[in-house]
Amino acid sequence: MPQDPLTPYGNRPMVTPIVNAVNYEYLSFDVLRQITDGEIDGYTYHRDDNPTVREVEKQLAALECAEDCVVCTSGMAACTMVFLTYLQAGDHLLIFHDTYGANYKVSLILERLGVEITWLDAGDADILASHVKQNTRMIFMETPSNPLCKIVDIAAVGKAASTVDALVVVDNTFATPYHQNPLKLGADLVVHSATKALGGHNDLMAGAIAGSREHYNRLWFTRQAIGTTLDAYSAFLLDRGLKTFELRAGAMAKGAQAIADFLQKQSKISRLFYPGLPGDPGYEVASRQMCNGFGGMLAFDVGDDEEDAKRFVAALKRIRHAVSLGATESLICIPYLTTMLYLPPERRTTFGVSKNTVRLSVGIENPDLLVADLKQALACVAPGRKESK
Ligand SMILES: Cc1ncc(COP(=O)(O)O)c(C=O)c1O
Repeated sequence: MPQDPLTPYGNRPMVTPIVNAVNYEYLSFDVLRQITDGEIDGYTYHRDDNPTVREVEKQLAALECAEDCVVCTSGMAACTMVFLTYLQAGDHLLIFHDTYGANYKVSLILERLGVEITWLDAGDADILASHVKQNTRMIFMETPSNPLCKIVDIAAVGKAASTVDALVVVDNTFATPYHQNPLKLGADLVVHSATKALGGHNDLMAGAIAGSREHYNRLWFTRQAIGTTLDAYSAFLLDRGLKTFELRAGAMAKGAQAIADFLQKQSKISRLFYPGLPGDPGYEVASRQMCNGFGGMLAFDVGDDEEDAKRFVAALKRIRHAVSLGATESLICIPYLTTMLYLPPERRTTFGVSKNTVRLSVGIENPDLLVADLKQALACVAPGRKESK
């Protein structure tokens, strides 16, 4: 074998090198044939594969207990690649309203391509089986869901899907593999917005799909065809984020639990959604299918209306008003005005989101400081009209 120019004496770099090459020189026609026949894991062109990207794919596969993983340009690229790879005209997709807003936009494209779609409320997952049809090819869900942190029983969905051989796809972005491994619970594929807790620092956009080697091959084909391969620099940042992923995920869950405990005692919080609270409708299933805590995401209604929620968010000093989640900094937003903005208004509220619902992504800050920030911001919200009646 020729000497590796990056490590001529075997002294390997401590960090994964960023290989920015678009193409690779073939050492011989025999090597070219070996690569194209899949006999060796060589590199030819960036749209096919990249060594920096491949490194994070192996780590993500290990985190999700998967045989392999395909990394791509964003979480939405990952969702779309899954739909395009496995669905065709005449197929039926079952999907929950409680999924990230952009899936609605993708659903319009899928319908144009002839895919039949049924939307269900994640809170109604027990009626899922009655919506499964002979042509149901996929059930797509998030648990906890975005933004109301509803919990769906993955094993129960797997049972319903198996009656017609439908694929079960779980977007595990909210839970993260630190708290939940859907493949171990009966899912066929796990999707991630790696932009979130896996990367963790608000500085990269990426997506990932983990599953069996057979699924890897099919998804790799789609990525290679449509060109959604991640760039090497973002893969490097993701690789660096993964070094601290478990520490960050643990800190976020601890902070979220402390905040949920605080919020549930506040009179200006009319509804609170966190699966780690024994009174939460998802608590029992979440306790069964999640581990190491219940994640860093929660949602709650502030005061009586949108103005109360806006006043509260504007008064926060430490918690930052921004979309996205899973970052080192705590982030808060009003989904009705942000992540769900592009849904028709009636769809924004149909599954329980209100104009005064806020979504909080807890970061790795000291939970006491976050609670103090929430407390002072709540003091800026007028006592509830409902409350004072
Ligand atoms: C649960 C979930 N899935 C997918 C996405 C899309 O990810 P990206 O923004 O990386 O495309 C998001 C984005 O917020 C999300 O919250």
